[in-house]
Amino acid sequence: MSILDNRPALQHTVGQVAEVAGYLWQKGWAERNGGNITVNITDEVDDAIRALPPISDPMPIGTTLPHLRGCYFFCKGTNKRMRDLARHPMENGSVIRILDDCASYVILADQPVKPTSELPSHLGVHDYLIAKGSPYKASLHTHPIELVALTHSPRWMEKDVATRMLWSMIPETKAFCPRGLGMVPYMLPSSVELGEATIRTIDSGYDVVMWEKHGVFAVDADIMSAFDQVDVLNKSAQIYISAKNMGFEPDGMSDAQMQEMSQAFNLPK
Ligand code: 13P
Ligand code: ZN
Repeated sequence: MSILDNRPALQHTVGQVAEVAGYLWQKGWAERNGGNITVNITDEVDDAIRALPPISDPMPIGTTLPHLRGCYFFCKGTNKRMRDLARHPMENGSVIRILDDCASYVILADQPVKPTSELPSHLGVHDYLIAKGSPYKASLHTHPIELVALTHSPRWMEKDVATRMLWSMIPETKAFCPRGLGMVPYMLPSSVELGEATIRTIDSGYDVVMWEKHGVFAVDADIMSAFDQVDVLNKSAQIYISAKNMGFEPDGMSDAQMQEMSQAFNLPK
């Protein structure tokens, strides 16, 4: 028995998570247990799920998140591998319910798999998204090689310097990641401070945030769309690096070409 049985909507959401987990592994972005995914599944939860008894003791989130009372999430398990999540999502992730204190959660199904260590960032961001009335339900943290490599130079950590370069490598990048790449200076993985800095950066206008020398954190309506935004950004970083490897600094699209593109696709300036 699985919580997914006879629940096609939930099955579809978890199926998308599994599909994306497979892509992350294939791309080389998910060494060992690297990266994590959470999805707000509250809209897909029925009365039978609401009545389920917990299969864990209450566990602290590490912070209080007032908008998450009674919300449900599918979460990758801590120390679980993306390549395993791809094949067996309910053995490498679990469904959790946020308790009424808004500061702790219980695991509901299928197995007592403890959620990702980056839960403070993921849940903090979901709390922020709900407060804003955002339709976004999914958040993704992953370790894309070329994007992480960029952050090892302070030049690319300056606000919007990497965004401008990445957008100019290929027209689609601005079209499909129109808010660009926000920057968060290095902070301890899984810390509440990293979560708070991520929220501040998302709030300043980004869907994808870079964690210096670590990885990216992306939000979108569903997990496939969050993955797509990271994928187009990393493709641009690969093109930049390919040109550098051929021995030259790539020109990038001109300002006039970028402007023409932004108008044609109705994108922000
Ligand atoms: P988890 O295995 O706890 O999800 O951690 C992986 C990771 O990438 C931490 O930043
Ligand atoms: Zn990580």
